Amino acid sequence: MTLLTEAEASAYWNERHQREGDLRSGGDITFDEATNRMFYTRRLAMLLDIVGMQANPVAPLYLLDAGCGKGWFTRELAQFGHQVDGIDGSEAAIEQCRVHGGSPRYHKSSLSGWRSPRLYDVVFSVDVLFHILDDAEWERSVRNLASLVRLSGKLVIGDWGEDGDRVYSNYQVVRGRQRYLPLLRACGLRFDGWQSYRFRRSPIGLYTFTRTG
Ligand SMILES: C[S@@+](CC[C@H](N)C(=O)[O-])C[C@H]1O[C@@H](n2cnc3c(N)ncnc32)[C@H](O)[C@@H]1O
Repeated sequence: MTLLTEAEASAYWNERHQREGDLRSGGDITFDEATNRMFYTRRLAMLLDIVGMQANPVAPLYLLDAGCGKGWFTRELAQFGHQVDGIDGSEAAIEQCRVHGGSPRYHKSSLSGWRSPRLYDVVFSVDVLFHILDDAEWERSVRNLASLVRLSGKLVIGDWGEDGDRVYSNYQVVRGRQRYLPLLRACGLRFDGWQSYRFRRSPIGLYTFTRTG
């Protein structure tokens, strides 16, 4: 299968974010809006288990939603009292995030290009890395996200939990354990586990890593 070029993938996401409703836009395009709402709620609960269930108005957690799409996870986590940055490569997605206003700060940026003056308590990237089709750019992105996590902070990545890569479509290449574990170990992060979404037939789940060095 011929994969989209970077320019084609970028046009695809801009067009999809303009065309689709809030959740189908960045969720599963084969589900309707109501089913996507369940899917988003399920994954939010998983994020909550990882981020923790405490809010501290004096010292909020500092989170990065890397590839935030239209910002559903960004806004939900901000409503829990956390300070959240949302970045996405799609101009259309970031424009629509900004319409909601509120406390999150949104920036148009690639995952590999984002720089922050502060390190994050948790960096999470839900269903984004398997849309980065070029291997070198995927590696730069993973390394950059890892570099943005503070000591003892967490990196959370949505991808599949098997070994090996698999091309699902011309804009989706899932990568498995043999890609993430050695790369992130070399970046000073410990592998804590992978948990399946357990939603319909999705083969995807969340990897969690903790910075130890
Ligand atoms: C399936 S959507 C997920 C969006 C969001 N995480 C969510 O779950 O609603 C994938 C998103 O990744 C973004 N994206 C793809 N490649 C990217 C890159 N290299 N840097 C930043 N964003 C990227 C797309 O613009 C799109 O918004």
